[in-house]
Amino acid sequence: MASTQVFCGTFIHSTNKDPLSILENTIIGVERDKIIFIDKEDKIKERLEEYRLSNNTVKHLTSDQFIIPGFVDTHAHAPQYTFCGKGMDKGLLDWLECYTFPTEANFKDPEFARDVYSKVVDRFLKNGTTTASYYATIHKETSILFCKIIDEYGQRALVGKVNVDQKAPEYYIENTAESVAETEEFVKAVTALENPLITPCVTPRFAVSCSEELMREVGQIAKKFHLPIQTHLSECRPECQMVKHVHPKGLNYTDVYNHAGLLTKRTILAHSIYLSDEEIDVIKLKGCGISHCPNSNLTLKSGLLNTRTLLDKNIKIGLGTDIAGGYSPSMLNAIRQTVQVSNTHAILAEKDGKEYKPLNFKEVFRLATLGGSQVLGLSDVIGNFEVGKQFDALIIDPQCTNSAFDLFDSDKTKEDILEKFLFMGDDRNIKSVYVAGRCVYEAGKRVVLSHRD
Ligand code: GUN
Ligand code: FE
Repeated sequence: MASTQVFCGTFIHSTNKDPLSILENTIIGVERDKIIFIDKEDKIKERLEEYRLSNNTVKHLTSDQFIIPGFVDTHAHAPQYTFCGKGMDKGLLDWLECYTFPTEANFKDPEFARDVYSKVVDRFLKNGTTTASYYATIHKETSILFCKIIDEYGQRALVGKVNVDQKAPEYYIENTAESVAETEEFVKAVTALENPLITPCVTPRFAVSCSEELMREVGQIAKKFHLPIQTHLSECRPECQMVKHVHPKGLNYTDVYNHAGLLTKRTILAHSIYLSDEEIDVIKLKGCGISHCPNSNLTLKSGLLNTRTLLDKNIKIGLGTDIAGGYSPSMLNAIRQTVQVSNTHAILAEKDGKEYKPLNFKEVFRLATLGGSQVLGLSDVIGNFEVGKQFDALIIDPQCTNSAFDLFDSDKTKEDILEKFLFMGDDRNIKSVYVAGRCVYEAGKRVVLSHRD
């Protein structure tokens, strides 16, 4: 990798103020992993002189191409990629029993794990997911192996060794003390990889399958090592009933986690569909983020998250594929399904004579990039293009060979073209994928990286 790179063309990203900010005729300078300048193209000569750069460091985009921030998948189960696109006939609890636990149990085997985990990271990067928050399995060794594979491919990730000590089959359950000890060992092993792109994440699966003691203990590990936490919350009605039964002392589902010390500024709560106003207030007060997983919520028939209500309350929201509850590993699919679920709320509201403002594609694009970075506690590092942030970016080519969509004379603006890409594009249109300034995928092919310098 050249240590300084300059990109010249159109950049499209979101800011807190503006869900869609289009920077045309712009140059962005990247030194190693970071953006060092953003300027208008007519300043290119001065900027090259200032940084003593030659013209050859400049990558000029064609007039149709544009650069967007890499997608942030805030919730994905890597081992479940093996049965992604299958087993959609059940609701959550039966689905876990019939497909998920038996599959995840196979990840005791490192050879099997290596094969699947390599394919997941490959698929995610190819689809433009530069950062993912992954659940691995209960197995410490192969969860560490997963982190090594992510390191080899150059993706940015949060990774959790999953904790399960109750209400699971005997072939896929841990003893409480062992689960706690192995979580700490996992954290230390991942830290020892010294890859700043990979963060261990404390991952108690959900309140059904974790005892109060386990949740409290792993919460302490998060506190001791300043780590993020991820879990599932209020995904479907039968699960919420089950939590009442398993943790009768909790005032509600959210309270079970709060009581165990699991709600922090760095907690990622997947789904969170059936929350009362009191629960939403606690989540807001604690500064937790919500991962919206619309494909999974529809595929497992869990429910329809009301994103507008949560956004109006300034709760952090990102999008998640939740493979394999969701059948698609692509964040473009998560974007589309988020729009459709929001539209469904509008249709249902209209039926009741109420007004509802569904999310538009610009707001959803922001959730898939900047929103996700906020949920993962990485908004100082990634999410959009700002001087000082790292360069995680996708070069989008709407006119590539075999493009997934066509452009017409009526597609006049960059906004039109972005909208078409978000709704009709696919990985063929993702020409290059950059993570922390390194090109990791080019024309759908992995770029084999030299060791991090
Ligand atoms: N709740 C507990 N485990 C899981 C899982 O693997 N997937 C989903 N969607 N929900 C869960
Ligand atoms: Fe999940």
